[in-house]
Amino acid sequence: MTLIRDLKQHADQTVTLQVWLTGIRSSGKIHFLQIRDGSGFMQATVFKGDVSEEVFQTAKRLQQEESLILTGLARLDDRAPGGVELSVREIQVVADNAADYPLTPKEHGIDFLLEHRHLWLRHKRPWAIIRVRDAVQTAINNFFHQEGFIRFDAPFFTPNAAEGTTNLFEINLFDEDKAYLSQSGQLYGEAGALAFGKVYTFGPTFRAEKSKTRRHLLEFWMIEPEVAYADHQDNMALQERMVSSVVSHVLNHCQEELKILERDLEKLKPASEGNFPRITYTEALEILKTYGRDIPWGEDFGAPDETLLGNHFDRPVIIEKYPTAFKAFYMQPDPENPDTVLCDDMIAPEGYGEIIGGSQRIHDFELLKSRIEDHGLPLEAFEWYLDLRRYGSVPHSGFGLGLERLVSWITGIDHLREAIPFPRMLTRMYP
Ligand code: 4AD
Ligand code: MG
Repeated sequence: MTLIRDLKQHADQTVTLQVWLTGIRSSGKIHFLQIRDGSGFMQATVFKGDVSEEVFQTAKRLQQEESLILTGLARLDDRAPGGVELSVREIQVVADNAADYPLTPKEHGIDFLLEHRHLWLRHKRPWAIIRVRDAVQTAINNFFHQEGFIRFDAPFFTPNAAEGTTNLFEINLFDEDKAYLSQSGQLYGEAGALAFGKVYTFGPTFRAEKSKTRRHLLEFWMIEPEVAYADHQDNMALQERMVSSVVSHVLNHCQEELKILERDLEKLKPASEGNFPRITYTEALEILKTYGRDIPWGEDFGAPDETLLGNHFDRPVIIEKYPTAFKAFYMQPDPENPDTVLCDDMIAPEGYGEIIGGSQRIHDFELLKSRIEDHGLPLEAFEWYLDLRRYGSVPHSGFGLGLERLVSWITGIDHLREAIPFPRMLTRMYP
């Protein structure tokens, strides 16, 4: 069986394709079949003169989403999308029960499309986005293994909050026992770093985000590397290497997908070169001032501020050393200024906002313990985490990259819901 993706290599050969029909157009002696096979999309032609009357009549009756096995001649043709066409000789209908296929070629609203996500995935745009998502995942796994990391899986059920208690999903396991769905694999990644040196987690994380935004899902995938003996500078350098290598990989491997999505490649290319600007939180406030946003020192940025900061540069910008007050309990204080921590966020260009949050971690036992208490977190649940500072503690750092945020930016789509096969949102649990 031949794949559409490989068809060009079979020019002038008779091949068989296993496909679905995405559309049909007829003009007298010729039917144009738009087909897909999962690996790609193309056009097949049925000429009256090339086939039996039976095959020609079969083609005439075909409907969108019928599954077919086509045999024909592969022909290079510059005018055809993809540069190759199939000149059909035989048609075998596998299933002709597609009569009421709901996703007709007309325009549909987003709610209707999401309600039919299980079918919508077959169409060009989702096909391209989800393929880029896969390429991003491959690039990330390749990158970390080349850098000597191992993949280290964190649990999804956790006894404690990692990223504050406001958006925790609580679940009742058995009778009295409570657990939470993991907001982050980081704390477990830290245990992994002290055992294996360099690890990364890669899995779903859950946050009860009660506001509807384009940038928040209830369930999203996070990649969280954690490195022993790495400091804040090492951490930022790792983020830059990783993001630029992922963007390069997608530019090299997903040309067809990015074309379908009409992505402006010139806007993406600078990110593949590295050299991400680095500014402090305090410097970011100065930049915002030039846009008329006067934010008092000590307050967090909102989404519009992140958009302004992201648009200010042609590639992702790293903003470091935020105020301690609104950052997580585990972040190492900045030795030059106790009011700030050795953390950073990476903000994507073109208004895509924060794609990475990371920091150097507190490695001192007493300091960490007092921070857990200050944040009102239950010490019992963190005893194991404190053990990491009781025994063989070392400076260490890591970060979390939101997969759907990264995929949204790279594909140029405007809402995270399309960057994951089945999005989970406040208003969407089906299918
Ligand atoms: O900045 P966050 O909250 O950082 C952490 O969770 C750390 N424990 C990471 C670490 O240091 N290991 O989340 C990290 C990233 C964000 O930058 C964003 O890209 C993504 O996760 N993210 C979300 N993506 C989709 N939907 C949501 N509700 C998200 N919340 C965070
Ligand atoms: Mg963050």
